[in-house]
Amino acid sequence: MMFIGRPSRLLKTISSSFVVKAIYRTEELQVSRYLMLFYVFDQKGVWMMYPNKIVSKKRLAKSTYEFWIENALVGSHARPGQFVVVRVSEKGERIPLTIAETKGDLFRIVVKAIGKSTYELCTKSVDDILADVVGPLGKPSEIKQYGNVLVIGGGVGIAVILPIAKALKKAGNNITVIIGAKTLDELILKDEFMFADKLVMATDDGSSGYKGTVIDAMKEQIKTQKYDVAWAVGPAIMMKLASNVANEINLPLWVSLNSIMIDGTGMCGGCRTLVKTQESEEIKYVCVDGPEFDGRYVDWDSFMKRLEQYREQERLALENFIKQVGDLSWL
Ligand code: FAD
Ligand code: FES
Repeated sequence: MMFIGRPSRLLKTISSSFVVKAIYRTEELQVSRYLMLFYVFDQKGVWMMYPNKIVSKKRLAKSTYEFWIENALVGSHARPGQFVVVRVSEKGERIPLTIAETKGDLFRIVVKAIGKSTYELCTKSVDDILADVVGPLGKPSEIKQYGNVLVIGGGVGIAVILPIAKALKKAGNNITVIIGAKTLDELILKDEFMFADKLVMATDDGSSGYKGTVIDAMKEQIKTQKYDVAWAVGPAIMMKLASNVANEINLPLWVSLNSIMIDGTGMCGGCRTLVKTQESEEIKYVCVDGPEFDGRYVDWDSFMKRLEQYREQERLALENFIKQVGDLSWL
């Protein structure tokens, strides 16, 4: 393989099948799936290989799994708040997933199975290879010394806020973390937030900690503590409600929008979102302008409506997948 000229920034930051992919097929041994290799340039313009191999998998809660994936490019470049776009299999859809942590050549994702592609990913095992990984993508979180910071995570959003909260703590902030789920069993990664100055665990059923939603806990918290900035990541409805509370007390609050994405690079328009202030109304692309926005200005009604637009196709895709692979209620 030959390449003339210095590699562009895009080539350095994107590893995917449409950049450069070498597939070695050893038909007799039927091992082509395991020999799917990805090459991009490193900082010095040297060809690098990114195998996208799953090196560990752990069940964190029902239908929620943590994976460590081998990809030195993502491992070495990712910053808090960024995400990857993953294609699980050759014919699969591209799905965005937040980079929860990095370690050397590895990066960590936490996935909740809610539809065809996330179910397919959660059925993968150690040593399986993902068809491709694009990233790190999106703007990193704005980490600096603010003072008092409130960080809220709901459901799988807890994995998204983990690297952000850690980086904010490292930057010298006083951190209050609120994490919440329906029950204690679904409250993932709770042991990893012990660095927080204050940790509130909320469960809807009261099976552990504060009884109520993260929004109830947020309302309690702001009665006694003044915050300079906040983050809230979780289901769209949770982020909308947190934004409403923040609006009432004029608190800047970053949310990470989980919009539908296709290319993840600003070209398809799939993730477009309306952001409104008193002065302006702007269309933003979550993949390149975000994924974080000040939730007080997101047009939540149109955002949530867009999430619904392929509901029927999504339902059919999952139904067909389950027909092929069998019952997945054990996941
Ligand atoms: P689809 O078939 O595309 O969708 C399933 C349907 O279920 C949708 O209609 C959806 O609206 C609906 N739905 C939404 N929430 C639920 C729910 N809780 N239970 C049941 N149905 C629901 N997901 C993660 O798990 N971990 C991450 O770290 C993560 N990071 C993200 C980062 C970004 C920037 C974005 C944009 C999204 C992120 N997501 C993350 C969401 C993830 O990309 C989607 O869950 C995934 O694309 C869904 O694909 P699918 O094919 O499995 O389901
Ligand atoms: Fe295509 Fe954002 S996902 S423009």
